[in-house]
Amino acid sequence: MSRTEPAALEIDRVTLELGGRAILNDASFTVRNGEFIGVLGPNGAGKTTLMRALLGLLPAASGSIRVHGEAVVRGNPSIGYMPQIRSGLANRRVLGRDFVAMAANGHRWGLPPRNASVRHDVERVLELVGAQQLATRPLSELSGGERQCLLLAQCLLGNPHLLLLDEPLISLDPRHQTGVIELVRRVQRELHITVLFSAHELNPLLNLLDRVLYLGNGRAALGTVDEVISKPVLSKLYGSPIDVMRVNGRIFVMSGDVEIDKLDHAHEEGDEHAHEHEHDHGHHHSHEK
Ligand SMILES: Nc1ncnc2c1ncn2[C@@H]1O[C@H](COP(=O)(O)OP(=O)(O)OP(=O)(O)O)[C@@H](O)[C@H]1O
Ligand SMILES: [Mg+2]
Repeated sequence: MSRTEPAALEIDRVTLELGGRAILNDASFTVRNGEFIGVLGPNGAGKTTLMRALLGLLPAASGSIRVHGEAVVRGNPSIGYMPQIRSGLANRRVLGRDFVAMAANGHRWGLPPRNASVRHDVERVLELVGAQQLATRPLSELSGGERQCLLLAQCLLGNPHLLLLDEPLISLDPRHQTGVIELVRRVQRELHITVLFSAHELNPLLNLLDRVLYLGNGRAALGTVDEVISKPVLSKLYGSPIDVMRVNGRIFVMSGDVEIDKLDHAHEEGDEHAHEHEHDHGHHHSHEK
């Protein structure tokens, strides 16, 4: 990698506000090209908000965000985005190939693309994620993991250099979680792209991520697992005493005697019903302060 190549992300003293509240407060960090970053933090920590800011959907209240050395712009073709709320799944009779094509620029909903270069790109991404056999099957007949594979294909249209994947593991069982993580990792290495992968559980990602970006309490900590997943760093991010335990190669982050991952997961809904809650996301996080 050349020394002069700009970093994938340069976040310099960035504050992000929503509803008059700082979700991220004066945060600075740099993500290098080709890194696989696990984005963690409790419900409401700002994982989705950060991704929306990188996409230009939320202007920073202060500070500077640079993506591949450039100021943030909406519709940046160098970024692929898998949103946490997957409304595209509402139309469930659509065939796999047409579903992928829906995310291409200039698509006509539910109809095959007119444009030959779009059609070519759709075949390219289907092959890349190994989903050719899903192309002719209706979405309604696919498993959660298979749909996730098509969603990843959508993000890869147009050859982005940075993928923002917001909770791709939601509602998947451990075996399918591993499948999705390994798929993302393989594609990321093949294309040498940067990935921000948000999740509620650290352990499935543990052996694959390069570094962790942990958000909490308006702060961000970016570093290796050993640097970030520690008592002092997490206690600061959670604003309360946190214990970190390592057992058989797994890491357990505990608040008192409750495991934090489990607490966050208690009310997480599956993507089956995500489209029904498009406008009231968050209502079920009743344990939040
Ligand atoms: N439009 C909005 N106006 C005001 N506050 C908002 C708005 N959207 C989100 N928030 C708040 O911003 C905070 C950060 O939300 P965000 O969705 O980024 O968290 P998250 O880390 O992605 O959480 P989760 O793990 O539940 O997906 C939350 O407290 C949320 O309630
Ligand atoms: Mg979120």
